[in-house]
Amino acid sequence: MSRLWGGRFTGKTDPLMEEFNASISYDCKMYDADCIGSMAYAKALAKAGIITQEEADTLVDGLGKVQQEWANKTFKLAPGDEDIHTANERRLGELVGSVAGKLHTGRSRNDQVATDMRMWTREEVSKISAILKELIAVCVKRAENEVDVLMPGYTHLQRAQPIRWSHLLLSYALSWQNDAIRLEQYLERLNVLPLGCGALAGNPFTLDREYLAQQLGFSDIIPNSLSAVSDRDFVAEFLFWTSLTMSHVSRFAEDLIIYSTAEFGFVKLADAYSTGSSLMPQKKNPDSLELLRGKSGRVFGDMAGFMMTYKGVPSTYNKDLQEDKEPLFDAVTTISGCLQITTGVLSTLSINAEKMRAALTPDMLATDLAEYLVRKGVPFRETHHIAGAAVKLAEDRQCSMADLSVEDLKTLHAAFEPDVTSIWNPERSVENRTTPGGTSRQNVMTQVEKLKTWLADS
Ligand code: ARG
Repeated sequence: MSRLWGGRFTGKTDPLMEEFNASISYDCKMYDADCIGSMAYAKALAKAGIITQEEADTLVDGLGKVQQEWANKTFKLAPGDEDIHTANERRLGELVGSVAGKLHTGRSRNDQVATDMRMWTREEVSKISAILKELIAVCVKRAENEVDVLMPGYTHLQRAQPIRWSHLLLSYALSWQNDAIRLEQYLERLNVLPLGCGALAGNPFTLDREYLAQQLGFSDIIPNSLSAVSDRDFVAEFLFWTSLTMSHVSRFAEDLIIYSTAEFGFVKLADAYSTGSSLMPQKKNPDSLELLRGKSGRVFGDMAGFMMTYKGVPSTYNKDLQEDKEPLFDAVTTISGCLQITTGVLSTLSINAEKMRAALTPDMLATDLAEYLVRKGVPFRETHHIAGAAVKLAEDRQCSMADLSVEDLKTLHAAFEPDVTSIWNPERSVENRTTPGGTSRQNVMTQVEKLKTWLADS
């Protein structure tokens, strides 16, 4: 068995401990980053004069073969392959002989694993960013196509004021756009290089870390070796990012679950994203949305679990840090799947514009009635009270507010005139919200244009 650390040990490791200590079953995901990182390291060693150019070429060549074996799924694990770093070095030795033993000069798995993790995460972040932008594009496209569909806007889940359905869609898009921007900003903090810091104290071989950074596509080097091997803020930050993004997904899912009930009937999920009941033949369940909502909990768990581990770890590397991988990997898999399902659900959803429209009852225009009086010079606090009295009057008479006559309204305030009937029109209400940010058509189209420009530029 080829261990990287056997020299000072005489006793055997408990087989259970061997298994307990190993991370190969999951960190093999990072094989590509590990091989590429090692290739650059071999070149940097040659550049520093620690190994010859031929030796470096042999190592790079051998590492290419190791990488290929993983890619072709022909890599065979051997007993003692504790983690991806150990496995790759062991295999390299088998392929190129004793020169493989020179690769790890001045390097530790501590700076190596931190580098692999950052490289792996960087790849995944760029994939997630593309998926997220597709979702935003679907929101924008739907908003544009369905710009004139009106629906009730809710606060406290009670009917509040008429809004455009497109305005709601763009509110989701805005959250996800902020998530995408946050991810870009995160990338800047992620993309700094730990390699060349050794176990903790630094590298003694005048290694050109700037060269390493440039070879590996990092924008800078981490300027402190202790921090380089110790820091997992990039894991914590990614897990928070995932949690926040998933909370946006979850709230979106919750809205649509409610809107898809027979009681609302505003939206209908495509068959592709619904499931049936094994018992009740009539059922069509929004399982996709429920899983989106449910999986947000799982991702918060990844974050909370990791934070609990992280907070107690003394400076530099401690094995607790191996516990960074599973939550990170899980969060990446979960959010990638969730964002793609969200895109699928949203792009295939059908809406029932008539039902949305039918839910717009005149009492949702009580605010507009108050605003009518404001425009006639009545102070808002008074108008609010008067409109409230109009709501009560209609309630007492068991009629719709729109059925109150001008005379009825005049009993509440003398400023009501025949033109007050124009209030009972939801289109008028939404079109009145012209201040930027409001639900008027023009404001919605401005948002659409802005998001389109952003998508095209990013
Ligand atoms: N598998 C380890 C991890 O993921 C690699 C680093 C091991 N370093 C050490 N000093 N034992 O954290």
